[in-house]
Amino acid sequence: MGYITEDKRKVTTQRLREMKQRGEKIAMLTAYDYTMAKMVDGAGIDVILVGDSASNVMAGNQTTLPITLDQMIYHAKSVVRGVQRALVVVDMPFGTYQINDSEAVTNAIKIMKVSHADALKLEGGEEILPQVRHLIEIGIPVMGHLGLTPQSINKFGTYAVRAKEEAEAEKLISDAHKLEEAGCFSITLEKIPAKLAERVAKEVSIPIIGIGAGGGVDGQVLVCADMLGMNNEFSPRFLRRYANLFETITDAVGRYVEDVKNSDFPNEKEQY
Ligand code: KIV
Repeated sequence: MGYITEDKRKVTTQRLREMKQRGEKIAMLTAYDYTMAKMVDGAGIDVILVGDSASNVMAGNQTTLPITLDQMIYHAKSVVRGVQRALVVVDMPFGTYQINDSEAVTNAIKIMKVSHADALKLEGGEEILPQVRHLIEIGIPVMGHLGLTPQSINKFGTYAVRAKEEAEAEKLISDAHKLEEAGCFSITLEKIPAKLAERVAKEVSIPIIGIGAGGGVDGQVLVCADMLGMNNEFSPRFLRRYANLFETITDAVGRYVEDVKNSDFPNEKEQY
């Protein structure tokens, strides 16, 4: 058995900030449905991200771009129903906040009203500051996301490590400061050099959550299906697998098929 927290109070953005101040690391994972959210929350996770990676993990798309606002709301509602303690953050999907401020606000309000989630995450820096500021002004907590931002994969052309060059690293540092000034409660840094991520975490006072960004940040996030080994085709260097559910599930299903075929299931005790 892993970490068991005695503290059953709801995690808030304020409590995340206090965790950073006292050097307590923040544990975050994705979830997209009620059953997984209930297990992840019960295991003591601090933050659950209803990531737009649902587009890949749940729908089998190649990128996060196709997932719609209504699909994200469906996932978010399902997750919220399973959670008692964790802070639930929802990704605003591609195309729902980039066009202009007013569309971003309308879509953000819809997610918050319908799903009852606690906060939203938006990808990007300076380019989306007006939207970030406006959402925070109307009372919606915002998490930033810099580095490898998957909604920009068609611009990047590759999922390789970002910000290795000085100019991109300098822009990332400046964006992190701007997101903090705009009022973001936290920033996710994805797939950037560990030294750069550590520098950002030292320079800003809001919690920095890393994925493929080394151990010098304030917390870590992984895609739940990846860390549980549900997908054996994805093995980036930053991923640690805590289970091999691909094998466990395939084996269990195989045994069920065998039992049905052999008329071994159901037996006398398993019927009325
Ligand atoms: O959508 C997602 O799962 C994410 C994480 C990779 C941070 O944004």
